[in-house]
Amino acid sequence: MRGALVLLFAACGLAGKHGGAGHKHQTPACVEHPKECTDLCASVGKFVGMNRKGVQDGRGWSWYYPAVQKYATCIRAEKWVEVGAAWGALAKHMLQHATIEAGGPIAEYHIVDPFLGGYDEKDPMSRMFRLAVANQSYESISIAWAQNIGWALGGGGEAAAGCRLRVHRETSVSGARLFADKSVDAVFIDGLHTYEGVKEDIIAWAPKVREGGSLIFNDYPNTVWFAGIQRAVDEEAARRGVSLRFINPKQHDNAVLGGDPNCAELAPPQAKRQGKKHGHGKKHGDA
Ligand SMILES: C[S@@+](CC[C@H](N)C(=O)[O-])C[C@H]1O[C@@H](n2cnc3c(N)ncnc32)[C@H](O)[C@@H]1O
Repeated sequence: MRGALVLLFAACGLAGKHGGAGHKHQTPACVEHPKECTDLCASVGKFVGMNRKGVQDGRGWSWYYPAVQKYATCIRAEKWVEVGAAWGALAKHMLQHATIEAGGPIAEYHIVDPFLGGYDEKDPMSRMFRLAVANQSYESISIAWAQNIGWALGGGGEAAAGCRLRVHRETSVSGARLFADKSVDAVFIDGLHTYEGVKEDIIAWAPKVREGGSLIFNDYPNTVWFAGIQRAVDEEAARRGVSLRFINPKQHDNAVLGGDPNCAELAPPQAKRQGKKHGHGKKHGDA
């Protein structure tokens, strides 16, 4: 426990150097993570932690995590935002492998997610929040879910990320307002998977990325379940007059707008435009 606390302070100290006071892109500031997780936080956390472990262990969608980590390193992303974090499995991977302490570039890893169930009947993840515990409102589950992720990944239990991790229990659009314009290196967009949702993501986050920064769209090839993602992203690429690049070109996934072109590839012609499954794991409803 003492070791965890020391690490926490060390990370906060470094945040002062790379992303804290005196840094021109300081917003939003570090908020201390919960020091304990009891009662509802613990019971919701049991469900969240079990599923996070499941994804990590390969019973889910973690197949793209190493490539995303490599991409963050390639573009030297100091400030990274993940819109839609679910169990926190990608966040955990990135906090363990892509932060400054791990030899990577990330000084700040921001999660923006309301953790509120029932947001899209077509998205199986939307139903997972109800399954966390019985007889609790979506709002109570959301609060406990966010607390648990902060406690587990920030406080020391699983990633000891300290101030490197900042959890914002907000929707994509309201969360974007917390950030100064041109202050973010990359936004990994994996929240509301509808056409309108992704359109709103683009409008909200495009001004927040620095010149040459990246907008990354997960689930781009998932046209059977979420055709709106590809439509919204393709429209934006056409509007900008650019070709999309991909972090996972083989699977045609994690489409990138902006960013260093040397860090992502154009999709090969044989790239799969897959349906509900892509890569080596399910993306949705595999809890
Ligand atoms: C597919 S999961 C994210 C998976 C995660 N990025 C990973 O790679 O492990 C989708 C998440 O988006 C969140 N979400 C839904 N609507 C959202 C919105 N409007 N803004 C931000 N997040 C949203 C859900 O709460 C859910 O946690």
